[in-house]
Amino acid sequence: MDVAMALERLPKVELHCHVEGTMRPGTVVELARKNGLALPTSDPTELYAYSSLDTFLEVFWLVQSVLSDRDDWARLAYESVVDGAAHGLVYRETFFTPARHLDAGQDLGEIIAGLGEGLAAGEAETGARVALIADIDRAYGPGPGLEMVRRLVELRRGGSPGLERVLGIGLDSTELGVDPAAFAEAFALAGRERLRRTSHQGEDTPPTTIAAGLDVLGCERIDHGLSILDDKELTARVADARIPLTVCPNSNIRIANKVERLELHPFPQMREAGLLVTLNTDDPALTELDLGYEYRSAAEAFGYGWVDMVQIAVDGVEASWLDEPEKGALRTRILEGAQHLAPDEG
Ligand code: ADE
Ligand code: ZN
Repeated sequence: MDVAMALERLPKVELHCHVEGTMRPGTVVELARKNGLALPTSDPTELYAYSSLDTFLEVFWLVQSVLSDRDDWARLAYESVVDGAAHGLVYRETFFTPARHLDAGQDLGEIIAGLGEGLAAGEAETGARVALIADIDRAYGPGPGLEMVRRLVELRRGGSPGLERVLGIGLDSTELGVDPAAFAEAFALAGRERLRRTSHQGEDTPPTTIAAGLDVLGCERIDHGLSILDDKELTARVADARIPLTVCPNSNIRIANKVERLELHPFPQMREAGLLVTLNTDDPALTELDLGYEYRSAAEAFGYGWVDMVQIAVDGVEASWLDEPEKGALRTRILEGAQHLAPDEG
């Protein structure tokens, strides 16, 4: 088997993927029709056009807007697992960002129940496992963010269906002109309730926002963290503490427009600095990416061999929010798969 095929099949973990960003263009069109929503174009291939994080977010919001009821969330979740597993996904912690749906009157419990149904169906079919992270949308401001966490806490206490999948909260959407400190109360509540915490920081902004994610929001993981190497002290601190960064190299080229081509992405320098970095797609359907491509392109651009790539997959286990016995089982699954697949690298 060649390296490309082996990397496609290698059992992989993904910790930075937005479930809405996995929506197939055909599903966007079908759900829009079902829910009576007009799209700017009826050609699914023309829907996903953008040139920066903020113009990308407009497409992301449009995609989100077609999710009207529990069945829509279930369909999205199901397809996300099937599409991920087709490229070697075995475990994912996936974001959902329900701000605009809650604003429009949908119930968080129904959204999570729908996601849970779809994920369960996808898991049964593929053998992959998926957990959830409820993201606050920065663009909606701190009030709705806090409200979402309060409702999440209430649903968890009531044992609502699907809630056992929600491991923690995150923070996404635009970073420009938004002070992470505005979300401190929502994150403090999540911390008191033993929900795990992560946030998108440093995708489009300097390392001060990464430090704020850790020190002000209490995050135990940072999504992207692309600018971290600009601050040597922070880099050393995050490396020493094994605080994971969920890095999305191809997304940083296609969405944030922060890196011109993959060879110029700092992923290898981040690893060399001792940072626990994981490899992820972010919004695969909206960017024409998949996890197999993410691994293949990284191996080629950064000159990594099979052993490096298996280590990157295993690093995803360490960075996950699974408990220790589950981490052990997942690590074994990856290493056994890797042994079976090991390519002839010549
Ligand atoms: N929501 C979906 N993808 C995102 C990204 N790359 N950055 C911030 N928010 C997002
Ligand atoms: Zn993201």
